[in-house]
Amino acid sequence: MALLNILQYPDSRLHTVARPVAAVDPRVRGIVADMFETMYAAKGVGLAATQVDIHERIIVVDTSEQRDQPMVLINPEIVQRSSDCKEWEEGCLSLPGIYDKVTRPDRIRVRALDARGEAFEIEADGLLAVCVQHEMDHLDGKVFVDHLSALKRNRIRARMRKRQRETEAA
Ligand code: NI
Repeated sequence: MALLNILQYPDSRLHTVARPVAAVDPRVRGIVADMFETMYAAKGVGLAATQVDIHERIIVVDTSEQRDQPMVLINPEIVQRSSDCKEWEEGCLSLPGIYDKVTRPDRIRVRALDARGEAFEIEADGLLAVCVQHEMDHLDGKVFVDHLSALKRNRIRARMRKRQRETEAA
């Protein structure tokens, strides 16, 4: 297993649309293992392959308190979403320290493949629903700040760029 480098906003590679996984084989299971290791090391609740510069439709999540309920969703598809929405304060490993409110459907039903390539469906609400939708956005090249106003997004982009310049200079 290996820790992967997490792309930092506003890296343009974060806007790549990921392609479907053709076969869940040992190569894909290796990516999944590395993604879990990377997500847990960064103390995140979710990670999309896009964020580690792998442009295939794979996400890993663990929203449990104990950090012991890993879930992988390969080629995830939302098959049902509630009409009622909820606002949550979101963050992202590609924008450390930046949080803002995003409104999304409160409950979703998702179909995906697991690490053995078997199809399954889950119903999610609360944090898990937010997390799965946030990670699925990444696979479509969308970061949570793309849900915010242009004014807010530009401010965040400037803040991230400034921080990156400071890191490079240090
Ligand atoms: Ni994210």
